[in-house]
Amino acid sequence: MILIIDFGSQYNQLIARRVRECKVYCHIETPDISLDAIRSLKPEGIILSGGPASIYEKNSPKIDKGIFDLNIPILGICYGLHYMVDALGGSVKRAKKREYGFAELNIKEPGNIFKGIASSTQCWMSHGDSIEKLPGGFSVTASTENTKVAAVQHDEKHFYGLQFHPEVNHTTLGKSMLNNFLTQICGCKKNWSMKSFARDAIAEVQETVGDKHVILGLSGGVDSSVAALLIHKAIGKQLTCIFIDNGLLRKNEGDKIKAVFKEKLKLNIRFIRAKNLFLSALSGVTDPEKKRKIIGKIFIDVFDAEAKKIKNADFLAQGTLYPDVIESKSAFGGPTSVIKAHHNVGGLPKNMKLKLVEPLKYLFKDEVRKLGAELGLSEDLVWRQPFPGPGLAVRILGEINTKRLNVLRNADEILIEEIKKAGFYRKLWQSFAVLLPIKSVGVMGDLRTFENVVAIRAVTSLDAMTADWAKLPHALLGVISNRIINEVDGVNRVVYDISSKPPSTIEWE
Ligand code: XMP
Repeated sequence: MILIIDFGSQYNQLIARRVRECKVYCHIETPDISLDAIRSLKPEGIILSGGPASIYEKNSPKIDKGIFDLNIPILGICYGLHYMVDALGGSVKRAKKREYGFAELNIKEPGNIFKGIASSTQCWMSHGDSIEKLPGGFSVTASTENTKVAAVQHDEKHFYGLQFHPEVNHTTLGKSMLNNFLTQICGCKKNWSMKSFARDAIAEVQETVGDKHVILGLSGGVDSSVAALLIHKAIGKQLTCIFIDNGLLRKNEGDKIKAVFKEKLKLNIRFIRAKNLFLSALSGVTDPEKKRKIIGKIFIDVFDAEAKKIKNADFLAQGTLYPDVIESKSAFGGPTSVIKAHHNVGGLPKNMKLKLVEPLKYLFKDEVRKLGAELGLSEDLVWRQPFPGPGLAVRILGEINTKRLNVLRNADEILIEEIKKAGFYRKLWQSFAVLLPIKSVGVMGDLRTFENVVAIRAVTSLDAMTADWAKLPHALLGVISNRIINEVDGVNRVVYDISSKPPSTIEWE
């Protein structure tokens, strides 16, 4: 494995992505990691990331200098290079001008990290400091017009440094450089795959859990489904999943989850039908935040009551993903380990004294999908679009009742069916129907109607932080609109939402 030390760069996740794309496993750790912890990870190489600080700034992040005596190849990128140079007796200075953007890299010494790369290639710079004096044993291997020391190496110790960022796509051959570091310099075997990850993760769950019991809140979303399946493969009936039907799910959702997880995959699941509890508490409530609070609180109460019935439950499993773990750590003294609250609610009760099992915590979302496929989860579940915890409650503007829920469910089912048929489902981050709190006039046959309006929302996005409304073909929108108006009782108008995030949000509430 490769250990990545996070000095606070905005590109850290990208470094991890690139390493894994080379089929080498990696971890990101904060600079306060001890030498013993590093030794126990047995890394074949260490990458010191970039970061926003200047090396001589007070409180700039630092790692134990002992890493330079571990006899492990090290690659320093930008700030990581500055740290290495300073730690080993060289010096760094503030550059006259901050260099940001493309630069032509002239390689003086081919081989090693530049093996197979032409003598001139494009790289991406983003730095304010530069190397002034190199420590003994280092030589310059590449330069750009503005930056004399753009790449360095210490042959004997296998220390390498790049002033530019090989992890970003703008450095045309950056991935080849990283690949060279991993294979030529660190000697990593490119054998990391989802199969090997699954095998190791299953063994780890078995070792952690022993003969104890694990509980997991199953929502049917990709993360909790994959986590459930993996833990089930590890400990079988020692896992109990709790699925809460809050009455705010999509059409037949509870039955579909039951058919897959209970009947087909034979997981130990408790289905809790709590529809009346949720719907009666939501009766007359129209404020979106009040809806969320009510749903969150009841969820916790129901989950807690159910969990208490499970004897010997020592562990709570969660489908926490790597970006959540990374984002909750900070190179600048933030919390070293923050537990993510349950996906669908604001957090689980503090008095629930359970240890956490988070088998997906080193995976990115697309890797979780691959793992799901590897474990035998159906395509349908592997490629599910995200669905908010409060469910249809935040897609029914205004009051929630069974009648309005059914109107929305029927409209949403048609929408998803047509989106899938047209081959758009996987291309969209989310696509769903929203029931508006207004009625409009229409004419059906010779009769005037005064019925509900449904809005269609379809967005593309990478991470839900920003989103663009999807430019769906007019013909497809036409089919969806016709079908909803003709087939769903109580709807006489369909509109398409053409707002992006920001300033709008993805959900309407
Ligand atoms: P917004 O509407 O804030 O949504 O642009 C961003 C993403 O978060 C989902 N979302 C939620 N998920 N509980 C959840 O579990 C919530 O209360 C909630 N609100 C929004 C939304 O579906 C989108 O993917």
